[in-house]
Amino acid sequence: MSVSLVPPLAALPPYVFAELDRRKQVARTAGRTLLDLGIGSPDQPTPAPIVAALQGAAADPALHGYPPFRGHPRLLDAAARYVGTRAGTTFDPARELVALAGAKEGIADLLGALVGPGDVVLVPALHYPVYARAALMRGAAVAYVPMRADDGWQLDLDAIPGDVLARARVLIANYPNNPTGAITSPASLARLVDFARAHALLLVHDMAYAELAYDGHVPPSIFAVPGARTVAVEFHSCSKSFNMAGMRVGFVAGRPDALDALLAYRSNVGYGVSQSAQLAAAHAFDHVTTLAAPIVAEYARRRDAIYGALRTAGWDVTPPQAAMYAWLPLPEGVAPWDAVQHLIDDAGIVVTPGLAFGEAGARWFRISFVRDAAVLADAATRVAQSLATLAPVGAR
Ligand SMILES: Cc1ncc(COP(=O)(O)O)c(C=O)c1O
Repeated sequence: MSVSLVPPLAALPPYVFAELDRRKQVARTAGRTLLDLGIGSPDQPTPAPIVAALQGAAADPALHGYPPFRGHPRLLDAAARYVGTRAGTTFDPARELVALAGAKEGIADLLGALVGPGDVVLVPALHYPVYARAALMRGAAVAYVPMRADDGWQLDLDAIPGDVLARARVLIANYPNNPTGAITSPASLARLVDFARAHALLLVHDMAYAELAYDGHVPPSIFAVPGARTVAVEFHSCSKSFNMAGMRVGFVAGRPDALDALLAYRSNVGYGVSQSAQLAAAHAFDHVTTLAAPIVAEYARRRDAIYGALRTAGWDVTPPQAAMYAWLPLPEGVAPWDAVQHLIDDAGIVVTPGLAFGEAGARWFRISFVRDAAVLADAATRVAQSLATLAPVGAR
């Protein structure tokens, strides 16, 4: 047979990260050494006790078979305790939890189970790409919910047109937010829950950065909103909180019928997540206070180093209170790819164009906190110097 992609996959818009990869490759082939601050993959090792839990589980023959579809009871129990503590309530691990091979895959599986042609998925205008792409792959339409810097990057629900809302099935929110680092409040989450209930939407809250918050902020769970468990599901991940991106493990909690739908989809295409990874994750969530604290402290140091350097360079910027990114405006009049390419050529630094997170990000770029503080401070200084030498489009 000739290999051709099925129509929805073939019709997906170009993946901005693939274009970024291409440009990195060209520079490296030309002999450039690059400092890659584009990716959001943690550079620090997984904490030793979690690795020990993984090793112990891997050596246990009782765990060498296929995992139970919903997940290993140890992870489901630990996840129920973790999210329950966060939300000030309790969860039934047998109905309200599912173990996942990462939040990304879980979100795609959920949308795979729930939406198709004729449906609309409401996606934050600035978003982690899977929200839109998984919907588009199912033949569903995506409508982008505006977010504004002057409103702290909250979702502007009033801006969703009525005819779009009538066809919408799912509303996605993500706080702490990638790429902006924005946080939200229990009151804003309550508005999302009310809105989802009023319009019969499944509310999907992605909390992949649940532990990465600074200055005393504790990101609220959607389940801190009374009654949210009948409207919402919340995705959690070990990738960022515990430097476990390579282990591929997380969980989803909440509305049982939505979780059953996810399971109905996934059980036809896979088995979920390795039992060793699940037991490592159980250890991580059971010891979150001690294990996440040093990771968060390190990201805080990095954030302060970057923002200190930018301020010294004369940039009027406010550090984010969460996540692991600097979300920064491009200089006036500079085209996004021109800026990114200029930073590669002139400074040897790779940043992510804001376009990677939707058209709404065209005037922004993102730096990931994936090197130590000294390297990041120096990089931020060089980014500021380099962008200052880039003239606006009309002036060249
Ligand atoms: C908002 C958001 N959700 C989910 C993920 C992926 O999480 P996981 O590694 O658990 O699939 C990321 C990764 O960058 C992310 O930024």
